Order: sequence, then C-alpha cells, then structure tokens
Amino acid sequence: MKGVILAGGTGTRLSPLTKVTNKHLLPVGKEPMIFNPIKQLISAEITDILVVTSKEHMGEIVRLLGSGKEFGCEFTFRVQEEAGGIAQALLLAENFVGSDSVAVILADNILTNSIKPHVDAYIKQLSRARVLLKKVGDPERFGVAALDEKKKMIIDIEEKPKKPKSSYAVIGVYMYDPSVFDIIRKIKPSDRGELEISDVNNEYVKQNQLTYGIVEGDWTDAGTFESFQYANELLFEINNEIQTNGWIQEDEIKTEESHANSI
Ligand code: G1P
Repeated sequence: MKGVILAGGTGTRLSPLTKVTNKHLLPVGKEPMIFNPIKQLISAEITDILVVTSKEHMGEIVRLLGSGKEFGCEFTFRVQEEAGGIAQALLLAENFVGSDSVAVILADNILTNSIKPHVDAYIKQLSRARVLLKKVGDPERFGVAALDEKKKMIIDIEEKPKKPKSSYAVIGVYMYDPSVFDIIRKIKPSDRGELEISDVNNEYVKQNQLTYGIVEGDWTDAGTFESFQYANELLFEINNEIQTNGWIQEDEIKTEESHANSI
C-alpha cells in the first residue's frame, strides 16, 4: 500500500504565521507539523510515501525531509502548481499509486493514536474505500458523515453543513483503491471552486463501497489558531510518539474477502 501526504494549500487561516512558510512546517509540539502524518503512515507500515506541496515551499519541505532515510521510509515529491482542492492534489498521485491502493493523509491532521488498525481493516475489507471518523463538538467545520451503524457503511457525507446530520467529522485520513483517480476525474468543482474530497467519498457511497472506522485517542486538524494550539498541547504531551494502545478489535473488521493479494 502506498502513502500520500497532502501538504499544499495557502494556510490563510493561520496568517501571518504562514506568510513566509508552509503551514505544515510550523512547530506542533517539538517537531514540524508534517512529522505526525509521516509517523502515522510509518506506524501503519506504509513506507513508500509521496508528499505533494506547492512550488513555493517544495524546497523547504525537501530540505527538511530528505530522502526519508532518517525516518525509515522513502519519499517521492510532487509539485501542486495551484491550490484547487484536496481531490485535485490527490490526482497528482496517480502514477505514483499505479495499481496499488493508497492511504491519504492531510498534513494538518494530528492524531495521537496509530492508524495501523484502520489500515489493516481496510486491507482485509471487501469494500473499496474507507474513511475515519471522530465525534466532535463543532461538526459544521468538517465533512460530516451520516452512518448505517449496523452495516458499518457511510450513507452520506456533507461538507461543512449548516445543520449537521451527526457529530461525526470525517477526518483527513482516507483509504482508496486505484479507481479513486477515475472518480476524481468525474467530479465537478464545488461552489468554492475546489474538487472536494467529500464528493469523491460520496461517489464511493453511491457505489455502496465506503466503510468507516472511528479513531481512538485524540484527533484535531491544525488549520485554525484554536485547533493549532490544541494540536500543540496534544503532541507536546506525548512528545509526538504515536500511541499503539487501545487498538480496535478484530470483530469490528469485515473479513469476507481480502484486498491483501492486490496489496
Ligand atoms: C478538509 C475536508 C473535510 C475534512 C477536514 C479534516 O477540510 O474538506 O471534509 O473534515 O479537511 O481536517 P478543510 O481543512 O479544507 O477545511
């Protein structure tokens, strides 16, 4: 399975901190923000990782990350010429992913607990895509999922709804098969002119292919001053060491058929 870290965007909500640098290079705890998603992928044994960022900050990102040797992984880098949404950035990973499946992380998403059990669940499940959820107090800020809890399937995802149908935020960690790229090519830009990842996920819903897992431990995005400060508190406390306790149980995982052969 391949890993993709999306580290583009302008980070305007954190201006002036982001005037001369990339949001994902800002310190969270004692390390740059992007270290957490890297450690997440490595904790799930995904070591072939593509980092997508803007041309303005690619130099700094490469200078910070290098080949991946220090982390125990291998980095590939791709430039996103202009910010056009998460799905547009993901399309740049098509050749890198090839016929493999892919775990995608938004580089401003901070998690204290390893995503490994969820990646393992995806590898074992029959359906072609999986998203991760977290119950939050302010769902209007995120993609929000309506669930069929019996079937463990997503019924619908609404991007930043005024009246959220649940308190489950769809966090910035997504697992897809390679058909994701055809789906991205099919969707149209939203009112804010972006190719939305929620539209991609809803296409998998239409095909009855989108499962979910609920993350253990703490999760936050770090794109606003409030969430950025909270992310700092979380990672300072655990010294950015990804926790591997409290993993989900096997019986939560659908196992009728396995992706394992193709991965
Ligand atoms: C993006 C996604 C949203 C998701 C969030 C997680 O929002 O569009 O569905 O819940 O990341 O961090 P954005 O950060 O662009 O507001």
